Amino acid sequence: MNIENLVRPNITQLKPYRSARQDHTGGILLDANENAFGSPVFFDGLELNRYPDPYQSGLRERLAIMVDVPKDTVFIGAGSDEIIDLLFRVFCEPSVDNVVIPEPTYGIYRVAAGIHNVSVSSSLLNDDFQLDVADIVRQTNESTKMIFCCSPNNPTGNVFSKEDIFQLCTATGALIIVDEAYVEFAGSTSLAGYVEAYPNLVVMRTLSKSWGLAGIRIGYCIAHPTIIEYLNKVKAPYNVNSVSASLALKALEEPKEREQIIQTIREERKRLVERLQIVPQVQHIYPSDANFLLVRVNNAKKVYSKLINDGIVIRDRSNEPKLDNCVRITVGTSEQNDVLIQAMEEIGE
Ligand SMILES: Cc1ncc(COP(=O)(O)O)c(C=O)c1O
Repeated sequence: MNIENLVRPNITQLKPYRSARQDHTGGILLDANENAFGSPVFFDGLELNRYPDPYQSGLRERLAIMVDVPKDTVFIGAGSDEIIDLLFRVFCEPSVDNVVIPEPTYGIYRVAAGIHNVSVSSSLLNDDFQLDVADIVRQTNESTKMIFCCSPNNPTGNVFSKEDIFQLCTATGALIIVDEAYVEFAGSTSLAGYVEAYPNLVVMRTLSKSWGLAGIRIGYCIAHPTIIEYLNKVKAPYNVNSVSASLALKALEEPKEREQIIQTIREERKRLVERLQIVPQVQHIYPSDANFLLVRVNNAKKVYSKLINDGIVIRDRSNEPKLDNCVRITVGTSEQNDVLIQAMEEIGE
């Protein structure tokens, strides 16, 4: 397949902005109207008065090694939310193109489509919350540019079948965006290694979840180098700031500590399931490969407001298709989970 054919014509022709720090990073830098006298605050020896590396070379290299993919297949954004937005900018012609979103899923895909005036075809997940491949293929046409597969899926918590995703890659001419924000909590492995085999596969990852770094806004994607080139072409020149990039690099040096935290979250998830199963309000707890649980209760509104009154904030997902009376609960610390369980028990039937 030719990825160029999926790109918006104006983006193919676009002459991108050439930023100062792309050309020179050393010498007497009088080219970017920075403040040569320095900055009033300091962080980790960084020259905060200077614009950051536009392509985050060091961090990109480190992420590529970690995921075991070539560096030119990695793009870094200010969170994966920025990457979702950039994908729309590159590939979707407003009011012409469309995307397919298997739902219920992460709401940002639909909002991003709305922002870019791109129409959405929704395909309902089946009763096991797996992709309905035949229906998704049926929903596509020659103007379908992207299909969003969130795996593990937010809010249902399950991993989608690999074979189904590969089938979508071959059966459609669209980009298959696999959002793996929660993959580290799953028993299954990432699809990042398959982007070479499937040039229309884009795998999104983030440091916001398993790395515990939601505050620094670092997301990344792995995709065919042509897709990466186009993302670089449309992004803001300095989309990732130097403080975040530096903190991310530091964190990536501590994989053992993070493995331990992932293990603890998995154990807490198991404990939470065991304890919630016997709470009278709880009808069903869906199996989870993520750091949250989707729980069907007798009365979602009642549960939500009682917990809010107790200062515990969960997410009511009961307005989503197939999720009647479902709430999504993030796995907290052991102490937080104990408080939650106690409050849930107090609600009664
Ligand atoms: C499925 C999914 N993708 C992406 C994100 C956002 O990731 P980031 O913080 O990297 O923008 C979230 C956040 O909740 C999410 O649930």
